[in-house]
Amino acid sequence: MEIIKNSKRFIKDCYAIAKYKTPAIRPLSINNKVRKKIEEFNENGFLKLECDRFLDVAKYLDDAYFKKIEEHNNVIVESDFQNPNRRFSIKELKKNEYVAGGMQISAYISLLDEKLSSLLFDDEIHSILYGYYKRQHYFRNQPRIMKVDYKGVNKINNGNMHVDHLHQVSIILNVSDISMNDTHTEYVPGSHKRSFLRHGIQMPVEKSMELVKSYSNRVHFTGKKGTLYIFDTSGFHCGNYQQGNSRKIMHLNFTTGHHMTSVYDDPDDIKTYIKNSNWPDYINNSLNKAIKFKPDF
Ligand SMILES: [Fe+2]
Repeated sequence: MEIIKNSKRFIKDCYAIAKYKTPAIRPLSINNKVRKKIEEFNENGFLKLECDRFLDVAKYLDDAYFKKIEEHNNVIVESDFQNPNRRFSIKELKKNEYVAGGMQISAYISLLDEKLSSLLFDDEIHSILYGYYKRQHYFRNQPRIMKVDYKGVNKINNGNMHVDHLHQVSIILNVSDISMNDTHTEYVPGSHKRSFLRHGIQMPVEKSMELVKSYSNRVHFTGKKGTLYIFDTSGFHCGNYQQGNSRKIMHLNFTTGHHMTSVYDDPDDIKTYIKNSNWPDYINNSLNKAIKFKPDF
């Protein structure tokens, strides 16, 4: 019975992905450095990248976004997204799990902010994603910035190991220096290679917590401001909450076209943005796809 149940679930999950007929991979000029990174990503399920251009973006995010919101004393203000600048929208933070986890800021920001484009449309990152997926990839939703200041009495650790959607790859950029004593993401290298047929693609947290016991390695997504991690979220991961310094990050999600969510950028803005930009096709496609998703409000 279990095998029939798992097979049905597998087919259902695969359908969600397969129904998006995205273009097959085209030859990209992938140099040796990038090819090695793709191999490493395939092997471990994550990559750590450090370079000055990411640090510049982290500094910009801190000054232009975090400090601006912190001026409001981290209080949730009406969405600024309706302003002419439309640079960020504040996510509802009243959910108990956010408050308990010390979430102070969680805001979607614009794909159209040119000062972010050196990271959002970075050639190396997109070549790695394209090479990893072996097909077209898309931004699943907008970039999100988050600040967590966990002051809970109990250390929450390994208690929330889970997996996300199949074929979702996420990026975390550290906007503050993050050490082992600060809240950070923990990842189980190699666990993205588990059998989807035997264990399901999306599994309950209880099952994840049981299965993860067979893996001994843990990687901690720590590092200086500007450190960037790319990881396959079908591998086990969790938040490791610590009472250290505030953790500030930018978070990006990619899929091959499935599980897309609303994008708040104005479709006309995006059209103009594409017209005026010189991005390769695979980036233009991603933004074009975003046009189809209307704002919620
Ligand atoms: Fe997750």
